[in-house]
Amino acid sequence: MTDTDALPPGTDPDKASVARMYDAMLGGEHNFAIDREAVAAVTAIDPQVRTLARANRAFLGRAVRFLARSGVRQFIDLGSGIPTQGNVHEVAQAASPQARVVYVDKDPVAVAHSTTLLADNPYADIVDADIRRPADVLASPQVRKLIDFDQPVAVLMVAILHFVAPEENPAGIVAAFRDALPEGGWLALSHATNQDRPDTAAAVTQLYRSRATSPVTVRSHEEIQGLFTGFELTEPGLVHVPLWRPDENEDIPENPSEYWVYAGVGRKSG
Ligand SMILES: C[S@@+](CC[C@H](N)C(=O)[O-])C[C@H]1O[C@@H](n2cnc3c(N)ncnc32)[C@H](O)[C@@H]1O
Repeated sequence: MTDTDALPPGTDPDKASVARMYDAMLGGEHNFAIDREAVAAVTAIDPQVRTLARANRAFLGRAVRFLARSGVRQFIDLGSGIPTQGNVHEVAQAASPQARVVYVDKDPVAVAHSTTLLADNPYADIVDADIRRPADVLASPQVRKLIDFDQPVAVLMVAILHFVAPEENPAGIVAAFRDALPEGGWLALSHATNQDRPDTAAAVTQLYRSRATSPVTVRSHEEIQGLFTGFELTEPGLVHVPLWRPDENEDIPENPSEYWVYAGVGRKSG
């Protein structure tokens, strides 16, 4: 996307979009100067932030492969973002060509590019919705058409709940999706934390609050673990994002605790 392209309707020209910022961090092309400038400001606070974004994206891929190996053929990807490398339907359908994927996002650029990408895919679709209204997502025609809640389903909340403020009840949002899942359904989640690098997290939080479309709320390990209420965490539990089932031991960086995002996968229990 060039900066002469018109911003899609519904976008605030004075704010960096959190979806487009993440796209810029991952080296994508669907972002504007205002997004890249905000990413440059985040990078000035944490020079590792692009590596952190890539590590988060890699966790998404590993989690989907793990879930596919565990027999899951249906995924609801909440806050799915602008399509880039390793999209959930590509990973899931590589394991099982008829795997169903419903993406959900409220960013106009994310929705537009997902719609184009999925036009010819009968098993994947995108819902333009706000995850803070779970009933809208669950009642959407796309979910009703593609997801059978009598079969295993995974809900993915990867780098999304830190955009939900405490007063917006993130635990209640997770609970609404959990209650829709069958026994044995899954939750994969990653979330920014203030546990290890509180100064970095505080400075980045402040920057998002002043410049981006959604403020960020970072949470402690205990608070993020609390979001798995009603789920049993699989091994290795809630860990720094590069440490969640790395493909190769060589993939583990020397400084995993500097990656200020926790990740985990849990299974709905009784
Ligand atoms: C950092 S990106 C994560 C993308 C993808 N899940 C990943 O981890 O690679 C966060 C996405 O969540 C979306 N988002 C934030 N708040 C949302 C909300 N309340 N409802 C729907 N989407 C939301 C943003 O538009 C953005 O695309």
